[in-house]
Amino acid sequence: MSKILVIDDDRSIRETLELYLTEEGYEVVTAATGTEGLNRFVETSPDVVILDIRLPDVDGFTVLEDLREDEENVKVIMITAHHDMDSTITAMKGGAFDYIHKPVNVDELDMAIKKALKTREMEQKIDGLLMEPSRHFKVGDIIGAGKEMREIFKTIGVVSQNRTTILIQGESGTGKELIAKVIHHNTACDEPYIAVNCSAIVETLLESELFGHEKGSFTGAVARKLGKFELARYGTVFLDEISEMSLNLQAKLLRVLQEMEFERVGGKDRVRVHARIIAATNKDLKAMVREGRFRDDLFYRLNIVAITLPPLRERPEDIPDLVQYLLAKINIDLHKRIVGVSEEMMEIFLKYRWPGNVRELENLLVRAAVVAKGQILVRGDFPELAEEPLPVAAQEEAPTERSADGKLPTLDDIEERYIRKVIRESGKNKGEICEILGISRPTFERKLEKYGIVYEKEG
Ligand SMILES: Nc1ncnc2c1ncn2[C@@H]1O[C@H](COP(=O)(O)OP(=O)(O)OP(=O)(O)O)[C@@H](O)[C@H]1O
Ligand SMILES: [Mg+2]
Repeated sequence: MSKILVIDDDRSIRETLELYLTEEGYEVVTAATGTEGLNRFVETSPDVVILDIRLPDVDGFTVLEDLREDEENVKVIMITAHHDMDSTITAMKGGAFDYIHKPVNVDELDMAIKKALKTREMEQKIDGLLMEPSRHFKVGDIIGAGKEMREIFKTIGVVSQNRTTILIQGESGTGKELIAKVIHHNTACDEPYIAVNCSAIVETLLESELFGHEKGSFTGAVARKLGKFELARYGTVFLDEISEMSLNLQAKLLRVLQEMEFERVGGKDRVRVHARIIAATNKDLKAMVREGRFRDDLFYRLNIVAITLPPLRERPEDIPDLVQYLLAKINIDLHKRIVGVSEEMMEIFLKYRWPGNVRELENLLVRAAVVAKGQILVRGDFPELAEEPLPVAAQEEAPTERSADGKLPTLDDIEERYIRKVIRESGKNKGEICEILGISRPTFERKLEKYGIVYEKEG
């Protein structure tokens, strides 16, 4: 039986509410002052508190504060004779669950109590979920369960044992910098990690940023300055947006990569490079090579180890884990207790095209978390997505599309993509999917296993 504590100095109200609520099947405890109310709260730990604002000893707002100090998520319904905006706002800001005016309308009160109890029940369930260790991810984890991401994890493991140059390609927001940092962390975490955005700096400055300069080498060079390659020591230099580097500087970078030595601008001494170089781009470098906008010899030098991150729409199976992971991060940053998104929202997420990939997902969740009222993010918390019809992943992936390293896809590649597409678009019913694919369930299971496709829902 749910327990309700009524704190009101007006005896007739206490009695009426006690009678009514008992009849409704609640266990009722009453108190006539704030102090008495707090004592009874501690003694009886009720599920809901009905609290008058004007009390003889302490005012209701203070009582509310004390109650919440005792139990942060206590459900308090405030009752008042005042009908003003200020006290309503003060009450809600103070963490009241609801706010009701006198004379009390029993239907209104009834609804508020039911809602409070339901919320409480849900929160208790959620607390259980939050405790579950399997739902916890470490900050800095890379989420990815599909075949491509698992291959990338393996590559990270391998390259962490040497210092080869790495090229990371992928659409914007797919996690290129995250991968670079993880590689750095696994290789040389005590050494510096230095990121340089090649598009953000003009050519001449970029050159001295990278290589450093000697005193007096140009106007304004008042002292010797060390470049990023030197500053990184045995760590990592991350060259972001490498596609934007001028052809002239590309030639200089190539020489550095070949000789692992360079001279500071205006200097003669040879400086040795010990740092690992990781380059990243969201452009198709191979195509830029064909168009003569990127040096092919530099491309091959960088491309010794290539990591190509798949766009988010091609791995919808990662979305639930990503949502969980990102929300955990957001909860820490924003001091929130969001536990997930509604089923409806998840369906939308799974079908959405995600042009901005994981970063777009992260941004949407942050904005939703800021405005959300509940602990579950619902459709209304995502106004950007609700406004326009969703740019659904309708566009076909051309089967002859080349991968970033210029190779044509294998039959397995195409089979995997087609299976993923059918899973995505069929509404997730297993029987239906097998029918469309024209294969039996065991065959389907084998293919899921083979391609590392995560498929949970039974249909
Ligand atoms: N697999 C993943 N698991 C967890 N977080 C991820 C993953 N991929 C990306 N993120 C997060 O998404 C955000 C964007 O990632 P990141 O900055 O590494 O992308 P990027 O590819 O460098 O993007 P851009 O091309 O726009 O620079 C970051 O907050 C990153 O931590
Ligand atoms: Mg980046």
